[in-house]
This record gives sequence, C-alpha cells and structure tokens, in this order.
Amino acid sequence: MTVRYGSAVNEVASLSSERLPGCSVEHVQVDLRFPDLPPAFDGLRIGMLSDLHIARRTRTVDALVDWTAAQSVDLWAVTGDVLEGLEGVPQVARIVEVMRAPLGCFAVAGNNDHRCYTLPEGPPALFREVGLPLLDNTHTVLSRGGARVALIGVDDPYRAKDDLPRAVEGVDDGLFRVLLAHSPGVVFHAAAAGVRLLLAGHTHGGQIRLPWVGALMARSGVRGCGRRMAAGAFSVDQVVAYVSRGIGTSWIALRVFCPPEVTTLRLHREERRDA
Ligand SMILES: [Fe+2]
Repeated sequence: MTVRYGSAVNEVASLSSERLPGCSVEHVQVDLRFPDLPPAFDGLRIGMLSDLHIARRTRTVDALVDWTAAQSVDLWAVTGDVLEGLEGVPQVARIVEVMRAPLGCFAVAGNNDHRCYTLPEGPPALFREVGLPLLDNTHTVLSRGGARVALIGVDDPYRAKDDLPRAVEGVDDGLFRVLLAHSPGVVFHAAAAGVRLLLAGHTHGGQIRLPWVGALMARSGVRGCGRRMAAGAFSVDQVVAYVSRGIGTSWIALRVFCPPEVTTLRLHREERRDA
C-alpha cells in the first residue's frame, strides 16, 4: 500500500484559499489531475460542503447561503454532519435551495445526522426534508458529453454504517469512480473498490492544529488513518482523497490554526507528473 501526502500526491495540481467576506470561513480551491478522467469530464467543477453542524441561523449560515448561491459548479457534494440540532433543518434547507448544478446535488450522512435526527427513518427523512438527494450505500451515474462517471455514496463509516460493496453493486467496470463518505478511513477499502477520488470530512481538520505540525488528532476512528489524513489531500494507492476541514465544530467549540472551510474542486484530464 502506497500512501502519499500533500504536494507528494501526484494528482494534486494546485491548492489555494481565500477568506469569505464577513466570517472566518475559507474558500479552498483544489485542482486535481487524472490521466484516466473521461475527456468529457475535463474541467468538471465540484462544490463541496462538509460538517455544517447547523443548529440555528447565524452570520456564518447567511454567508454560506450567499457563497453557495454565487458558485457556478457542475456538481455539489455534501459530505455529512449537516445538523447540530433540529432547529437547524430550515437553515440547511436555505443553503440547499440555492445549490445549482447541472449534474445535481448529492449528500452522504454523517454521525451527527444519525444522532440529531432520530425519527424512525433517520437520515433519509432528514435529507428528504432539506431537499438533498442522499447516497445511502448506493450510487448514481453522471452523464456528460456522452461519457459517464460513477458517483458512489456510503452511509457514515465512523459508525460503521458504510457498505461499499453494496454501494458499487452494478457499477460498470472501467467507469471512473468518485466516492463520497463522511469520514476518510474508508479510503483503505476504496482502493479495492476501484475508486479514484474520495471526498470526505468528519475530522474538522483536527480543529486544533499547530504550524509545521498540523492536526494534533485525526479523530477518524480508524486505525491507520493518521493525523496527516485530517485535512487536505492524500492518496492511498490509486485513490486520491481530499478531506475538508468542514465548517462547524463538535467535541469542543474551538478551532486553532484550523479555519472552517468550503471547497471547490476542479478535475482535469492530465498526465501524472511522474508519468
Ligand atoms: Fe462533523
């Protein structure tokens, strides 16, 4: 198993960030290159929100609504923990309402979504209520210019509710595979499932980071998913993973050298640097 981090990940072309007006959230822009991306998907833009942890209307929620409405992306991915309490439901719906993308908007559930939304139906009812299609151990096929890409989503791996073999059942061999999962530890199974790109959150970047050191804790809940996998890009074999620092907080309402993040990713069909 080959693990690479940060700039050593061959597929990472560039990474930049800028602060959203009026709040502490950073917009991180990531360019990724894949030699096997179908040509019709070259330039694909993905908007990504993770770990919103919304409990009520705040200035950050208003800023997120404005930022989301201003984005021009092809696909939206929401990687779980949208909620911190039931009063957050209408606020999440405000954000979903302004998500526009020709290929659609898709979500996976996080551990908090299971905890906060305890109706018998659980997260499927929550995501239906906010109007966000949920990939619940299943997949969909994205079509563009006559080419296809599989978008796979698993239920929360942190609570071992993920079932990746079931989620990829019926995906055609050879399709470029993108996986959405709440927590990044699933990367070790994703390699065997032919996944090329994993988008995840859950770690909140560790919440407390030190300059030159990074996250003090990964909080992934998975052995082998270390502190260096708490934020940003890394790869495990052919799987390129990008982990968002997310927006909210959980175990302690504190972030140190770890600003909240919204992300846009652009995928390019390009050769690897070491090819
Ligand atoms: Fe979270």
